[in-house]
Amino acid sequence: MAHFLAPSMLASDFANLERDIRMVNASEADWFHLDVMDGVFVPNISFGMPVIEAMARHAQKPLDVHLMIVDPDRYLKTFADLGASVLTVHVEACHHLHRTLGAIRELGMKAGVALNPHTPVSALEDVLDQVDLVCLMSVNPGFGGQKFIERTFDKTKAMRSMLNAAGSDAHIEIDGGVGEGNWKRLVEAGADVLVAGSSTFRASDPHQAIRVMKGIE
Ligand code: DX5
Ligand code: ZN
Repeated sequence: MAHFLAPSMLASDFANLERDIRMVNASEADWFHLDVMDGVFVPNISFGMPVIEAMARHAQKPLDVHLMIVDPDRYLKTFADLGASVLTVHVEACHHLHRTLGAIRELGMKAGVALNPHTPVSALEDVLDQVDLVCLMSVNPGFGGQKFIERTFDKTKAMRSMLNAAGSDAHIEIDGGVGEGNWKRLVEAGADVLVAGSSTFRASDPHQAIRVMKGIE
């Protein structure tokens, strides 16, 4: 099956959000990746509910919301109401991950769980049946434009084997430093959702960059 491409709006021009959202709508990209940061779980603050509400009004593709916040349980319903299709929490930010993933599904969203680069895939062993998407962080979360951590290739393969063994067809999403030089190897390793911030919005021709990372040209 073809992989999905999810441009990260963190790298868009916030003074021209509507323009950049229209670009994604008209492109070959599949999802909008929205990075929510609280300045506590990660050393940066991005955007929150009012901005997502405004983006949702223009976005014509699924919203893939990546929560880099402590205690995400407080806001699951809020993000469901905002129209998130995928809601991803960090394993490192959840005391009761099993319950949180169940609650996300109950609200009608796909349940995603993200692993920081230092967190082994084995951390998910006992929740595989609760997971619709595993997000492997290929940079330390908090900022766009960072360098891809090469270890992610092996981690992707290990995660795909673990999911296969459990009979799960959950998505594997790679987030951070993905671009024209590594997307293909990531798909070959078992990833099927690629987040692309800088490599989309800093490209001289974003449409063309998206087509390249989709494998269309
Ligand atoms: C990092 C975010 C990423 C980020 C990716 O904390 O989770 O989604 O926007 O940006 P690039 O693709 O520029 O590395
Ligand atoms: Zn992200």
